[in-house]
Amino acid sequence: MLSCQKELFNLNPDVHYLNNAYRAPLLKSSEDAGIQSLIKQRNPFDFKPDDFFDGVLEVRKCFGKLVNCSPSEVAVMPSTSYGFTSVLNNVKAENKKKAVVVKEEFPSGYFSMERWAKENDAELQIVAPDSSSIQKGESWNQRIIEAIDENTAVVLISSIHWMTGVKFKLKEIGEKCQKVGAYFIVDGTQSVGAMPMDVREYKIDALVCAAYKWLLGPYSIVLSYIGEKFADGIPLEESWMNRVNARNFSALSDYATDYEPGAGRFNVGETSNFIMMPMLKASLEQLLEWGPERIQEYAKQLNLPFRSFINKIGGVVEEGDFLAYHLIAPKLPDNLDVASLKQKLEENKVYLSARGENLRVSTNIFNKKKDLEVLIQVVQSQLG
Ligand SMILES: Cc1ncc(COP(=O)(O)O)c(C=O)c1O
Repeated sequence: MLSCQKELFNLNPDVHYLNNAYRAPLLKSSEDAGIQSLIKQRNPFDFKPDDFFDGVLEVRKCFGKLVNCSPSEVAVMPSTSYGFTSVLNNVKAENKKKAVVVKEEFPSGYFSMERWAKENDAELQIVAPDSSSIQKGESWNQRIIEAIDENTAVVLISSIHWMTGVKFKLKEIGEKCQKVGAYFIVDGTQSVGAMPMDVREYKIDALVCAAYKWLLGPYSIVLSYIGEKFADGIPLEESWMNRVNARNFSALSDYATDYEPGAGRFNVGETSNFIMMPMLKASLEQLLEWGPERIQEYAKQLNLPFRSFINKIGGVVEEGDFLAYHLIAPKLPDNLDVASLKQKLEENKVYLSARGENLRVSTNIFNKKKDLEVLIQVVQSQLG
């Protein structure tokens, strides 16, 4: 098993940061890469035409390895909403009249689907978990599979639920989408990097991931796998960088009609992002060295005492197959108020998020046993 890697981060050593799902701390290697690239900007004459593209290609290669696709199937974008709109604009309803999302999907995904449904005169079906069951995962997954039928044009779902950590069975959902001919779009922001992802095995048509959480990257970059269904898609914008002749700076006005093959047509303009791209490359290389399976296992072992503690005091934690261990959000016993507990935790330098009535505890490779011990102590002290 991996050991704690806190020494590779510049995270304040005095805090217990259990909030990677909010924003990841930067790796030292990523920070160094950013500083070096900033300094490099002093001398623009050092930048050759290929430099506008090669750094991006490195990042596309690394992400491809992480999610099992080729670099040409990866697009670089500025936000997940940009990613969802890029693909949804190319989803034709044909004669199907339904789109499917889950209850409390992250707003960028929800609003994109709401707009698609309106523009295509379709119903947006919102699938909720069974409110009467204590464990939500199994019945929720079952309801999602049942909701996807011959009338479904598109399904958009997060790989795990961003508020509760419930894991969605992407393989089964992807197979159902394929069976009925629905597009399958996944928001991987809260799991890719910390849990295995395989776009081929799960039959995903588009996977959109913000980099600043489990990819340990900087804010404002999103990496997306965009599959062959979108090979002839119309991108949101017409950047010169996405055309086949883009590397030939002296002939750019010989306007090329063809886009770069694959997902490249969906890259945001000014893709090079000279300062942040090398930062993201450093983070992805480190993640590939660790491996998402091992990060998941690390989180599972690390928060085991906290999960047992929650069960002991009468709270609820999602179980086994339906739990993403790096992002758990136990429901607390009724005598604990989430808002005041969160405040008390911050007084003790424990940082995490309150999401609805759940306390969201997200752990990564920089967390130590001590972080969870302090969390348990503070919760215990509030039980009265
Ligand atoms: C599931 C999920 N998707 C997307 C995002 C970020 O979206 P955007 O890039 O549109 O700001 C978040 C941020 O918390 C998230 O949790």
